[in-house]
Amino acid sequence: MEPQFQLFSKEFTKNPYPAYAKMRKDEPVHKMRFPDGQLGWLITRYEDAVEIMKDPRVIKDVSKLFGGNMDSGSVFMHNMLFSDPPDHKRLRGLVQKAFTPQMISGMRGRIQEITDELLDEAAKGTRMNLIDDFAFPLPIIVISEILGIPTEDRDKFRIWSNSLIEGSNGEHAAEMFQHVNEFIQYLSEWFEKVRKNPGEDLISQLILAEDEGDQLTERELYGVVTLLIIAGHETTVNLIGNSILALLEHPDQFDLLKEQPDRIHQAIEETLRFNGPVEFSTSRWANEDMEFRGQMIKRGELIIISLNSANHDPKVFENPDLFDISREKSPHLAFGKGIHLCLGAPLARLEGEIAITSLMQRFPEMKLAVGKDELEWRPGMIVRGVKEIPLYLK
Ligand code: HEM
Repeated sequence: MEPQFQLFSKEFTKNPYPAYAKMRKDEPVHKMRFPDGQLGWLITRYEDAVEIMKDPRVIKDVSKLFGGNMDSGSVFMHNMLFSDPPDHKRLRGLVQKAFTPQMISGMRGRIQEITDELLDEAAKGTRMNLIDDFAFPLPIIVISEILGIPTEDRDKFRIWSNSLIEGSNGEHAAEMFQHVNEFIQYLSEWFEKVRKNPGEDLISQLILAEDEGDQLTERELYGVVTLLIIAGHETTVNLIGNSILALLEHPDQFDLLKEQPDRIHQAIEETLRFNGPVEFSTSRWANEDMEFRGQMIKRGELIIISLNSANHDPKVFENPDLFDISREKSPHLAFGKGIHLCLGAPLARLEGEIAITSLMQRFPEMKLAVGKDELEWRPGMIVRGVKEIPLYLK
């Protein structure tokens, strides 16, 4: 029998919200199958999402279930996102200091400078591709500077990280492994350089922690750095893209923000709730057979939390399908919850606020240069965003 919801179809990717509404009502803990045949459970209601992110029966470190002998993609899993206590605290603690709200607000001037340079370049023409020309370079330059890696290599990071994200559902596995190997090779050469000549950057500090003994293993060094590169830009690209799309599709909200630019914080929070950048990447594993909301989840089964579905739950948000930058309170889950709450949230929020404010000041008349139906949503289901956003600037 055909499954009721085609979770990997183009139609779903374009607009998953009607299907999520049905699931929340009829089958909130939904049994799903990935294209590679793997079974999983999709959590769609807000209160269940919150509960499962705190549930001690659920773990992140999959090697506890299946052993550490995974494919070469596993290098990306030796980090805090795929660890449980006590390793989680140790790994997060090594980089946490670089991402505190105080550290991040100290970067405001530099983020504005990079933004202005990119927009000066765009202003030379009458059109831009928002993703390629702005939404991608901004966060990748910022995270590269924090890590101390050459910003000129950003196109390579983009290819490798896109391949990991979009190829991770099995369709482009061979290409993905080739890119993974190139990524590892690049990092190993870079780590060698830093070992010989350390600086003030975050990679130098991590290498010091590795050299000093039992704080960080070599594979964790790779795992943490790749996570920061990937998480540090893949999501923020889509925060910028999804914000502009939502504003252009809701001209009343665009005008309101033009008139009252200090609503920018609310506008970013509303995009995070309305069409958040993270789709199926909030995953965990059942560490024991467990009953959850009447479903029997077996040890070793994958549990995915749809943050976007939770953020459209009418039990928590009034008129959830309405894009409304006047919402006073928005307890959205776009950055997750619990010990894995996004480490980069203050950075992502600051980048989003500077990016959208500057774009609207520079190009108040911007318009989509293609029809809404021509926009192509990124495949792979890990992140939620479109591939290209062609804009008329004037
Ligand atoms: C974790 C979302 C930007 C670094 C997470 C999680 C979410 C998330 C939902 C938790 C996943 C889970 O519980 O399974 C987002 C969104 C972003 C964003 C929506 C942009 C709008 C960033 C940036 C960075 C970053 C800019 C890096 C500088 C991380 C890290 C973790 C994480 C390191 C793992 C934290 C841990 O396990 O303790 N993010 N993220 N993120 N994010 Fe972000």
